[in-house]
Amino acid sequence: MKIMNVMQKDDAGGANAFISDLSALRDRARDHMMKGAVTPSYPEADRKAVVDLLNTALATEIVCVLRYKRHYFATHGIRAKFVASEFLEHANEEQAHADQIAERIVQLGEDPDLNPATLLSRSHSEYDESTSLRQMLEADLIAERIAIESYREMITFIGAKDPTSRRLLESILAQEEEHAEDLVDLLEDVPKD
Ligand SMILES: [Fe+2]
Ligand SMILES: [Fe+2]
Repeated sequence: MKIMNVMQKDDAGGANAFISDLSALRDRARDHMMKGAVTPSYPEADRKAVVDLLNTALATEIVCVLRYKRHYFATHGIRAKFVASEFLEHANEEQAHADQIAERIVQLGEDPDLNPATLLSRSHSEYDESTSLRQMLEADLIAERIAIESYREMITFIGAKDPTSRRLLESILAQEEEHAEDLVDLLEDVPKD
């Protein structure tokens, strides 16, 4: 009973003053409970736009996984072993990004778009079939720079609409910036073709 009193007191003004109508908020939370993380304060148009944007990010990540994987398997020779291990590490990190983005799309009430027929056209980054180590590194650096620009724009677009999706993209962006930095370091050590 004592706890109830404290809560009622909060509702009247003090600690919950930033919430427009606490009892309406509690009612809305109970309605459509099975929508999980998607509550009525998230406008449908925003949710759809964020899901579309996350699907673009997902396609971008998967194309990055495939490109890095090919570069890993197509790198031959003892001297290139270190670079190959970096390609594999990046491929695994891009896969982790893809999985995080897919999980967020599910939290937002949709299935992730993993259709391989449209993957490349939906991706911002490109695939690459070059055979020289230097060209591979350059293609990866360009793809990372594309991802960095595109994630920055997505983060700006999301703004305050969906803090969780924004934070996810911010953490992925930070890792893409590390990837770009790694590639610059590697390129400095690889002779020009
Ligand atoms: Fe990534
Ligand atoms: Fe990356």
